[in-house]
Amino acid sequence: MEVPSITWLLCVLLTFRLKSANLLDCQQQLENDTDAEEACENFYEHACGNWYVSSRQRNMGAHDTRSKWLANMKIQLIRHLESSHEEKEEEELAIFYRSCMSGDQSVKYYTDALIQSSGATFPPFPLFPLFPHNSSSNSSFDWIPVNAALRTYGAQGLWRLLVLDNWQSADQRIFYLMPPTFEQLGYGEDEMSEFLYERYLKILLMELNLRVRRAGLLAQKLVAFEKSLRNLLPTDIEQTLVLRKPQSLRDLELQLPGLELRRYFDIILQGLDWDPSTLLLVANIDYLRDLQGLLLARDRPDPEILSTWLLLQLPVHFELKMHDDERLSSQQDRCLEQLRKLMPGALGRLQMQLQLGDNYQDVYDSSIQQIALLFRDLKQQFELVLNETEVFDENLVTRQLAREKLRAMRLLTPRLQDSAGTGHPTTPMGGNCDENLIQLSLNLARLEFRQVFGEPVTAVPADPMSVNAYYRLKLNRIELPLGLLATPLAQLPSCSKEADAMAKLSAGLGYILAHEMVHAFDYDGINYDAAGQLANGQWPARAIIRFGLRAKCYLGTRYSNATATINENIADSEGLRLALDTYRRTRKTASGQNLRTFFLAFAQNWCGTAATRGLGQQHSSHVDRVNNVVGNLPEFGETFQCTATSRMNPAEKCRLW
Ligand SMILES: *[C@@H]1O[C@H](CO)[C@@H](O)[C@H](O)[C@H]1NC(C)=O
Ligand SMILES: *[C@@H]1O[C@H](CO)[C@@H](O)[C@H](O)[C@H]1NC(C)=O
Ligand SMILES: *[C@@H]1O[C@H](CO)[C@@H](O)[C@H](O)[C@H]1NC(C)=O
Ligand SMILES: *[C@@H]1O[C@H](CO)[C@@H](O)[C@H](O)[C@H]1NC(C)=O
Ligand SMILES: *[C@@H]1O[C@H](CO)[C@@H](O)[C@H](O)[C@H]1NC(C)=O
Repeated sequence: MEVPSITWLLCVLLTFRLKSANLLDCQQQLENDTDAEEACENFYEHACGNWYVSSRQRNMGAHDTRSKWLANMKIQLIRHLESSHEEKEEEELAIFYRSCMSGDQSVKYYTDALIQSSGATFPPFPLFPLFPHNSSSNSSFDWIPVNAALRTYGAQGLWRLLVLDNWQSADQRIFYLMPPTFEQLGYGEDEMSEFLYERYLKILLMELNLRVRRAGLLAQKLVAFEKSLRNLLPTDIEQTLVLRKPQSLRDLELQLPGLELRRYFDIILQGLDWDPSTLLLVANIDYLRDLQGLLLARDRPDPEILSTWLLLQLPVHFELKMHDDERLSSQQDRCLEQLRKLMPGALGRLQMQLQLGDNYQDVYDSSIQQIALLFRDLKQQFELVLNETEVFDENLVTRQLAREKLRAMRLLTPRLQDSAGTGHPTTPMGGNCDENLIQLSLNLARLEFRQVFGEPVTAVPADPMSVNAYYRLKLNRIELPLGLLATPLAQLPSCSKEADAMAKLSAGLGYILAHEMVHAFDYDGINYDAAGQLANGQWPARAIIRFGLRAKCYLGTRYSNATATINENIADSEGLRLALDTYRRTRKTASGQNLRTFFLAFAQNWCGTAATRGLGQQHSSHVDRVNNVVGNLPEFGETFQCTATSRMNPAEKCRLW
């Protein structure tokens, strides 16, 4: 089939854009954020010195380039949702948003819904929450239907049921049975979150008419119970997905009879056609076995505690707010977050419409095609490199395997119109926030379950608020979320000069794709084959040694925390090299001015500072992600005419591929 050229697509896109927006001088736009700082001494400062975020953007979470894009999208969405409109789908979004902003919510709504839908009885005490102490009885509580009903609303109960890709078979979605996340309780010695969580539970109980003292005591016991669940996990709390072979529900049930998994799935999958001998699950067996032990032990959990804990998991899941002490911007952010979770498809379409104009569907489709071409060009360039690299000298077989892996790599983008529908309400939305939440959650969970029995996976689910691309090692594929495609990265052709547009596109989205591609060939990547399976021993010692010798440069003194960040540093530098070489190969006429645009656009992906989330820092700081990377490319020094003593032009330049 004849593949359209990028230039052709640019023309198409330019015509679309011309209608709605004036073309910008992209160079000037890039220069706007720059500072007088000498490019050869500190390129990050040069490119980003004049970059800033407004307080409104900061309130929406902006602290660097990406979070600023996201903040801008949020601000735009909020403005739109708070004004009035006619379109049917938008109207649903706006009705939900307004009901959420009204803030009138009731805990009882959720506990009642759960009791009703589980059909469980809570013997011997009358229905929650009015139970008096009744120690004379020791009858047990049927937790199975309640635990299952929680999941039909998308909440976790005694475990977490996820629908994810089968890492052994890329096109299939299956169930994962995992421990709960204990997000509110926190982990380990975090006494503060434990205290806050207990107080939160107490408030929920009081809202259900329990007296203060009794609510306090009960909340204490609930936290103690949840801690006993958490104690079933190993002490290193890294919650990674266990990589076990999927097994059938029937096999799993034989191993864990006390959990009555068959009954659980019967409730959850009501109305779907399924078979326990073919239903596949990846399960964290250790946790489930210990949970079974805990629930069936002689000193099993008090039924009152167990049932109350389960009942409160629903309001906890929705993070029901009991007080209106929120700032307006956090309230808006929270309601938008609900829409993101519950109506991602509709929200994504609105976002694209706001970004791209009324013919957004066509613009989006062209931009997806354009990205596919970019991906194809990058792949071809990388293949040239693999064909020639001395890492594989005298290793034809390994060279061949590497090439196959690259060729098999897929790029998944979201569909704007999901064939399965995306959590769109079947019943019209009303003014009651609780009702809307419950209804949308039910729809969404049902949709998720259907995916297990549905079509193969060919698109990523729409996530309008995610702007980070991923490379999935075990599926050998790159995923681009919808949010990223709504950023200026994917809307570049609004430059007045086409060469600038291509330079920006290559240094933006091209660089991001290249970065993810290189992850397939970093220290982790080389252990996996074309299908994403562990490929131990496929590489002969000689190739591994050559790989290691070249990668060693990334452990040099320029890199802080070098061992922790090496894979990201490899992907950053090798990715930019790949993006640059691809750009130069496909545009032979690129001028020095175009290369300036390329490097500036690259650096401006990283303005601002990284979020200070405590978790394992795999990435270098934004400053290093710019300065160390350009320092590895001789073309940078040439473009900016750096001298041999310039900081941005070190003698030792890392190059692995
Ligand atoms: C340039 O920066 C100024 C503030 O420094 C801002 O008001 C203006 O909108 C920017 N122009 C462009 C084209 O980004
Ligand atoms: C306490 O439990 C006993 C035995 O199940 C039951 O007969 C009685 O009604 C319960 N008392 C209350 C107040 O619920
Ligand atoms: C409590 O349970 C045990 C074992 O299930 C049973 O033998 C005993 O009779 C029960 N006691 C009461 C008061 O129901
Ligand atoms: C890489 O080498 C293989 C085998 O010689 C060849 O078929 C392929 O066309 C080469 N790829 C590129 C991009 O030149
Ligand atoms: C190095 O990594 C540790 C944890 O991974 C982090 O606490 C520390 O801030 C990092 N240091 C630098 C200079 O980035």
